[in-house]
Amino acid sequence: MRSVNIGLLGCGTVGANVLTLLERRRPLLESVGVRVNVAGVLVRDASRPRDVPPGTPLTADPAFLNECAVVIEAMGGIDGPLALLRPFLASGRSVITANKALLAERWDELRGYALAGELYYEASVMAGTPIIGPMSTVLRASEFRRLQAVLNGTCNYILTQMEGGRSYQEALAEAQALGYAEDPPTLDVGGFDTAHKLAVLARFCADGDFPYSAIRVRGIEQVTLDDVQDALRNGERIKLVAELRRTPGGWDASVEPRRLPGTHALCTSGASRNAMVFEGEECGELFFAGGGAGGMVTASAMMGDLLDYLIGFPGHVPLH
Ligand code: NAP
Ligand code: HSE
Repeated sequence: MRSVNIGLLGCGTVGANVLTLLERRRPLLESVGVRVNVAGVLVRDASRPRDVPPGTPLTADPAFLNECAVVIEAMGGIDGPLALLRPFLASGRSVITANKALLAERWDELRGYALAGELYYEASVMAGTPIIGPMSTVLRASEFRRLQAVLNGTCNYILTQMEGGRSYQEALAEAQALGYAEDPPTLDVGGFDTAHKLAVLARFCADGDFPYSAIRVRGIEQVTLDDVQDALRNGERIKLVAELRRTPGGWDASVEPRRLPGTHALCTSGASRNAMVFEGEECGELFFAGGGAGGMVTASAMMGDLLDYLIGFPGHVPLH
């Protein structure tokens, strides 16, 4: 049995569930010959009581990273995690992250590590619904045409609750209480989180260097209860849609609220779920849907990444 030291950055909605799932999957890890040792769990306030397995090494001091072979990043933000991950990656060690803002906005620094297979980030888009795996492998055999997707659980939850008559503010507060929303939630409702995710995806199917700044972004803040109810009366639904498509002039990428027929594939998934229609020349039209926000669905994707790392599979490699 080989022992592997891992570190965890963050013990909030996602990080706490990663710890729970690590305990649950110890027999699976041992079946591939690995005993995982959590060397440290970075938080801001280590004295706060938390629902984590007994003996969890909570600390506000990241020195434990020196002892780790791999780190799981679930703290959020951009420059904070990057300052910790930069020397870690530079020393040849791998990173598992759910942080789409970091990936989207600091790709210039991270792309080389991703090309080298040292970054694992299935959880960063559609959380526990595997999309980065297929897009970084089998789907590359087809010529990409277009994707349309609902990628933000918070917005989908808010719009779905507004269909039932709840106010925007009530629905947003519920999404925050459920652990779906970013800090601050402007990232969700302003469309920026969806754009972060679209940038991550575009690097597997359009351009390995696709810039986040190339995406036109409009969020759901201006969508009213009347808009949502009017759509519903006409057999339609309002969704925050991310679209990436090939045009004669290059790639066109946008995030905006759209009225879609109620029968549209993107309208069939439930409140906090995500969905994507992927169109490729040879693979045809594919549909992916499932949990897109929440602690345990996200942790499940990070656990999958950890298993890949431990078995020796590379991380998610973008287009060269
Ligand atoms: P969260 O509940 O706010 O947890 C963040 C954790 O990071 C907390 O434990 C916090 O410590 C710690 N932290 C933050 N800044 C820190 C700093 N400067 N130093 C030390 N510790 C720090 O966030 P989350 O919802 O778990 O999300 C984490 C990441 O996963 C984000 O990148 C998010 O975009 C991504 N993600 C989230 C979801 C979801 O559904 N929530 C889904 C997919 C991806 P304290 O507890 O002491 O405050
Ligand atoms: N805030 C994000 C969402 C979390 O609501 O989709 C999952 O990435």
